Amino acid sequence: MVVLVAYGSTGGGTGEIAAWIAEELQAAGFAVQLTPAGEVTGVAGYDAVVLGSALYAFGWHADVRRFVQRFSHVLRGRPVWLFSSGPLDSSADAGALEPVPHAASALRDLTARAHVTFGGRMTTDAHGWLGHVAQQLAREGHVGDFRNPVRVRAWARGVAGEIAAARRMPEQI
Ligand SMILES: Cc1cc2nc3c(=O)[nH]c(=O)nc-3n(C[C@H](O)[C@H](O)[C@H](O)COP(=O)(O)O)c2cc1C
Repeated sequence: MVVLVAYGSTGGGTGEIAAWIAEELQAAGFAVQLTPAGEVTGVAGYDAVVLGSALYAFGWHADVRRFVQRFSHVLRGRPVWLFSSGPLDSSADAGALEPVPHAASALRDLTARAHVTFGGRMTTDAHGWLGHVAQQLAREGHVGDFRNPVRVRAWARGVAGEIAAARRMPEQI
């Protein structure tokens, strides 16, 4: 089985989360394609998809929104999991956060299995406009790495278990 892990990331933090997820899926025995959502040209060859986005201004990355628009007709009915990464505090680990509206729409449009929000990361060494925002956030005490690799990897192993179960009972896919 081949699993696509696609992501939208401006500062690289969400891309790294996607890589952790891809590693766990690979360790579980799946062939995994890890690709930025904006570079995916087709999804027909994938048995399952994990799609993740950084959160900016309460929304998903434009490439991930476009991915949903382009491929929802192909992916509907196929096993899909969604994640967001954003909060620059411990709120994501404290309890399940409501999906932002783009994620809620994607849950419906892709008939996705589940959505989870992971913490985000903002460092003062970010470049360009992100760097300026980071300097501002640093003055307000909001920079840091609030991603939790242990939680991300455990979630990915849960996804791997569900994909494996669906493989044993194909009618569940
Ligand atoms: C301008 C700006 C707006 C942001 N808006 C949100 C937001 O609405 N919700 C949220 O949870 N995090 C928000 N964040 C935090 C980012 O989602 C977080 O830094 C994330 O890890 C960025 O991922 P990336 O490195 O993959 O781009 C914002 C960050 C910036 C710089």
